[in-house]
Amino acid sequence: MKIEIGREFPDYFQPAYPEEFELFSHLETASAIPQALFAITTWKDNGLPNVCFHAWSCFYGDKTAFFAVLGGLYQHTHTYRNLQKRRGFCLNFLPLSAYDRLVETIHKNGDDTDEFAAGGFSPERARTVDAPYIAESFLVLECSFLEARDLSGAGVNALVTGRVERVLVEESYAAGREKRCGKEGFMLLVPGAQNLLTGEPTQSAIATLKVERLD
Ligand SMILES: Cc1cc2nc3c(=O)[nH]c(=O)nc-3n(C[C@H](O)[C@H](O)[C@H](O)COP(=O)(O)O)c2cc1C
Repeated sequence: MKIEIGREFPDYFQPAYPEEFELFSHLETASAIPQALFAITTWKDNGLPNVCFHAWSCFYGDKTAFFAVLGGLYQHTHTYRNLQKRRGFCLNFLPLSAYDRLVETIHKNGDDTDEFAAGGFSPERARTVDAPYIAESFLVLECSFLEARDLSGAGVNALVTGRVERVLVEESYAAGREKRCGKEGFMLLVPGAQNLLTGEPTQSAIATLKVERLD
């Protein structure tokens, strides 16, 4: 038997914090799909480097190009403005050990804040786009901005697409999947999965990868 959840908010769903369902759809907490965590880096208007911790994205391509499809980017963020103004951004993949420092950049988020300094990160200049990247990342994607679309039309967040112009991989991660799929590799956000039987919330979690078999 499957539990069904539709577009109408189920009355028995309890939020994990008061504004949860002002920010997120109940369909997101009902499905709770894990996704890669990374940081989007850009230049602020005043030239300071900016960090935005992010998830809700995917990456795909064909033989002619590779694209970053960033979902759920808040329209009120520096990042949304910066990446359209400078027409570029970098995506930085860091290990779990950087989690607290990335969260620090959410709390220290002023117009005059150097968010690399706030997180204790070292800035490097991208070569193919007008954006900084985090030197401590094990993987960096330099992306040119393609388009932004407000899928729901609510003016809250946007779907942003970028074309990957250059990939940088730290040498110790370059020999295949081993280090990328382990405690020092990709970090994933596991959204707080609603208990669909009682409506109780659960806390969101951070995961790393464990390879179970080969394809
Ligand atoms: C795991 C995670 C937690 C986040 N928590 C918050 C939060 O508590 N408040 C918030 O406004 N944005 C949160 N965000 C979204 C952005 O990281 C945040 O808006 C960002 O600091 C915007 O930066 P900017 O204005 O410098 O672009 C979170 C993102 C992730 C991936």
